[in-house]
Amino acid sequence: MKKIFAVILSISLIMGLAACAGKVEVPSKKDVQKEVEKEYDMDFDLDSKDIAEDGSEAEWVFISEDGSLQVTVSWSAKDPDEFDFDEEELAVLPDGNSGAIPDPIDAKGSAMVGVSMPTKDLQRWNQDGDRIKNDLEAAGYEVDLQYAANDVYTQVSQIENMVNSGCDLIIVAAIDSASVSEALDLAAQAGIPVIAYDRLVYGTDNVDYYVTFDQYQVGQLQAQYIVNYLGLDYNSGPFNIEITTGDPDDNNAMFFYSGAMDVLNPYIESGKLVVVSGQTDFTDVATVSWKTENAESRAESIISACYSDGTNIDAWLCSNDSTALGVANALASYYTGSYPVITGQDCDIANVKMILDGTQSMSVFKDTIVLADQTAYMASQILSGQTPDINDTVTYNNGNKVVPAYLCEAIVVDANNYSDILIDSGYYTEDQLS
Ligand code: BGC
Repeated sequence: MKKIFAVILSISLIMGLAACAGKVEVPSKKDVQKEVEKEYDMDFDLDSKDIAEDGSEAEWVFISEDGSLQVTVSWSAKDPDEFDFDEEELAVLPDGNSGAIPDPIDAKGSAMVGVSMPTKDLQRWNQDGDRIKNDLEAAGYEVDLQYAANDVYTQVSQIENMVNSGCDLIIVAAIDSASVSEALDLAAQAGIPVIAYDRLVYGTDNVDYYVTFDQYQVGQLQAQYIVNYLGLDYNSGPFNIEITTGDPDDNNAMFFYSGAMDVLNPYIESGKLVVVSGQTDFTDVATVSWKTENAESRAESIISACYSDGTNIDAWLCSNDSTALGVANALASYYTGSYPVITGQDCDIANVKMILDGTQSMSVFKDTIVLADQTAYMASQILSGQTPDINDTVTYNNGNKVVPAYLCEAIVVDANNYSDILIDSGYYTEDQLS
């Protein structure tokens, strides 16, 4: 249930805002939280915040500590003594996990869910798999969680085993966007519904739903960070940039690349950004298997061919954290110029530490808890015979059909907001990042 209403700020906060010599200041997170906690007489944690660069508008999302309520607070400098509250009830999974799970669904007892993840090599897939498993087990389902060591054949045979062993639903994050389709045909013949997780499966009718983040937007956020960081709209440049994206077999890599290039191309065309290596085509900038070593060796070649004469690199667009790590390693070993702005994605612990020590500038945070919770919830809706929640019915055409999708929201994290987004939310502890 949603409820929207406005709250006039307490006198002390209004006085605080007015006291700022003519300029209306954006209220602090602490003050807003105090207002929310006063209004509901409950403790809340900040989930995310979004403040316009010119300070004219702001929005904070708070989740109550018991996970039952989400309150979005909007504020505008035009009406500084008023907060608009938008309240939404959340449901709590039986294990007490909070998150974006709207309503609990009764467990179906004996149902078994197969979860096929690509690899244990990256931190994120371990978190995704564990969270989905815990969510579903807490709701009473059995779970067969398998990792395929980034090997397509292993993944195909694991999915076939899930079908043969009687799974009632399969969740798959495909290693290769097309190669699992035959295994999914087998699932369809056995009447088993399939949810594509984070990565869409292409060339098949037999994928029922897709739960993901807006991957094109992830690329846009990375490129826009570079645009803002270098001040491309007001500095004359030119600035030097290199590009590293992901695995050509993972269709997400193309979304990240296109989102980023759509933002960067106008600056490249006008000469404000120069790709000194000349490598801009997807095939040239791709990183097989998203491997750190592959990104590192390509970056080493570029640095020695184009930057060993003292030419500066101003920006290095990296599509995710494992590739950003490879580029940072190569820079540490072979580059002596001023340090570039480097992008990433996933907020892996190693990379958040790099953000804190200045060797990576940002990472796009795709909260695996939100994604996993939403997927577990969708699975439980399907298994209980309900129509699952979706919020996109047009974007994800897999070549055979448009796959109904649920998109979650990605957030830019850098040294300025990591604490709000990653620590205050409980995603990481300070200790994990030190
Ligand atoms: C995911 C990214 C991840 C990459 C490498 C992509 O499909 O969307 O979050 O960094 O795979 O595993």
